[in-house]
Amino acid sequence: MHLTRIEERMLDGEEGEARALAMKVIVKVGEALGAERLVEVSHAHASGISYNNIGEPGLRLLRRLAEAGGRVKTYATVNPIGMDADAWMDMHVPRSFAEKQLEVLEALKAMGFKLTLTCTPYYVRKPRLGEHLAWGESSAVAYANSLLGARSNREGGPLTIMAALTGRTYYAGLHLDENRRPNLSVEAEAPKNSLEASLLGGYLGKTLKEGEIPYVRGIKQGTPEYWLKEMCAAAGALGSLALCLIEGVSPEAGSPPSSEEKLSVDRVELERLKEEIGSSDQPDLYFLGCPHASLSELIMLDRLVKGRVKVEFWVTLSRHEYDQASSKGIVRSLESKGIRVWRDTCPIVAPFKSLGYRVMATNSVKAAFYMPRIHGVRVVLMSVEEMARHAVQGV
Ligand code: F3S
Repeated sequence: MHLTRIEERMLDGEEGEARALAMKVIVKVGEALGAERLVEVSHAHASGISYNNIGEPGLRLLRRLAEAGGRVKTYATVNPIGMDADAWMDMHVPRSFAEKQLEVLEALKAMGFKLTLTCTPYYVRKPRLGEHLAWGESSAVAYANSLLGARSNREGGPLTIMAALTGRTYYAGLHLDENRRPNLSVEAEAPKNSLEASLLGGYLGKTLKEGEIPYVRGIKQGTPEYWLKEMCAAAGALGSLALCLIEGVSPEAGSPPSSEEKLSVDRVELERLKEEIGSSDQPDLYFLGCPHASLSELIMLDRLVKGRVKVEFWVTLSRHEYDQASSKGIVRSLESKGIRVWRDTCPIVAPFKSLGYRVMATNSVKAAFYMPRIHGVRVVLMSVEEMARHAVQGV
């Protein structure tokens, strides 16, 4: 692999032990993937930092890198953790877990990561068209590639840390023009709400093969951003989709592929998927915020919930969006209706089993996919409008 002089210096340990180790890992992975060089990244986003996911081995690695003098070399943000870093006691997160989680944060902070604690780093800093990133959250990767035209592969958690420490990643996969062209046409019925968009993403993720890049027709211009966010998240969770070119929406959509291959997706397919992954039980928790909710989703939810909820209702989001919603009085209004607004976390990465919920209702196919697998919790899929109505009625 060709390395620049600066990269050679990093590899040789002239910028410290931690950076040398990080560079070694990136070069090895890049070589295995056939990359001829590295590329500078303007933003690394580290995933896999919940103590629930990484446990003691992950914490040890982060501590070791921090103690070896590891410091980020590019703008670097981090994914959610297993609790609201301030309100973990209110969440009933066990102290033993919280202490370990806070140690993870200390190590990341020592290395210079911004503790954004969100899977929506694009709300904190929106990447530009063509920017090279090293992001590790599959929903954010699909969002950045598909909706912003930025370039990131789906990186594993440790690799995002290494990319942050070196400001580099391997130049392969979705960093290259030739791997960003559509090779399959998809005709979709326009989604009517965020749940339908999420189901469409889930269907594409589940159906498309590795390396297939869909050119999707049928999604109306002006479709709300958070519907597309749900679509990207589900596509990345139920499969390996990291780039979806949407006609009239994606900055790089260009023209449809010339190949004859075509996939049609209608509501019948989406209903089938909903039945396959969803349950019809009575929810004891309503949940909005996978991926983390935006200010505009909070405003919408506040408008839709007419009265006090009779069933537990959670919203999860970043501090970035929380602060804006708070300054507009939205957080106070939601809390006055009985809705819990948590920052920094989500049910999927939290130590959720210890909290005692059995059935969760959500509009997120990604959450519906992971909750039964990780926490043994059944999930009812509902639109946000349905959630708002049912939670107030207590059904
Ligand atoms: Fe984010 Fe948790 Fe969903 S990290 S994408 S809210 S699984």
